[in-house]
Amino acid sequence: MKHLRNAKTYKAIGGASTVHAATANTAHRRGAPKTARATGKRGLHDLLELYNGLSGFHANTLGLGDFKTTYGEVSEPGIHALSEKFQTYAPLSKIPAARKNFYDLGSGIGRAVVGIAILNSEIQAHGIEIVPDRIRAAREAMNRIKHKDVARRIHISQGNFLEPNTSYRDACWIFISNILFNDATQKELAEKIEREVGPGTVIICCKELFFDKTKVEAVATATIPMTWSKTSVCYIYRRL
Ligand SMILES: C[S@@+](CC[C@H](N)C(=O)[O-])C[C@H]1O[C@@H](n2cnc3c(N)ncnc32)[C@H](O)[C@@H]1O
Repeated sequence: MKHLRNAKTYKAIGGASTVHAATANTAHRRGAPKTARATGKRGLHDLLELYNGLSGFHANTLGLGDFKTTYGEVSEPGIHALSEKFQTYAPLSKIPAARKNFYDLGSGIGRAVVGIAILNSEIQAHGIEIVPDRIRAAREAMNRIKHKDVARRIHISQGNFLEPNTSYRDACWIFISNILFNDATQKELAEKIEREVGPGTVIICCKELFFDKTKVEAVATATIPMTWSKTSVCYIYRRL
């Protein structure tokens, strides 16, 4: 079992957000501005409860030696930052309904998938993960979701995101936590994305992908907090 370094940071961030939620509720009782829950606008407070006792760090990866299964996650503030960046570079208001699909390629226990679905009520959120233990944890979390409108927009599947029968042609947003992927995987991923996705699709990843510049442009970099670093730099690309 392999972890991306500094995995403890996640616990620190999770702890901080518990305190934040509790503080916000107390403030609300005192007549301070209403919380996201009270106003009906969802935040990510539910993630703590949904993932209570579930972890991707201790998964059994036996027999998966051909894949880079080292674990780490986009943290809760990172999910907010991801959502904001996607909205900036590919606003959902300008995307046709059939293409309002988010994909997390290598989705672990699905925190980013669930988080993006909670934050964006119009999106279908897909996760593809190779490790069965992580898929089981993702499904357990999905089963705990009380809001049916969120649960029905989450699609988790087990498999290799490079499989030819898996297509991203209906994607508008793609996230790839690829920091440890090898050159061959990086190359195959870049070629598959170039081939399949439609114009305007935004791809955010943790390590540069070398696209054909006539097909995919590099638009920006952004700090997206991860469990291994609060200041992790991500690369943002857009299909031309
Ligand atoms: C660093 S973790 C990121 C988890 C999740 N995206 C997040 O940020 O919370 C990368 C994940 O990619 C998965 N993975 C690696 N290669 C894969 C492949 N070819 N197909 C599907 N999943 C893969 C690993 O098992 C691991 O769970």
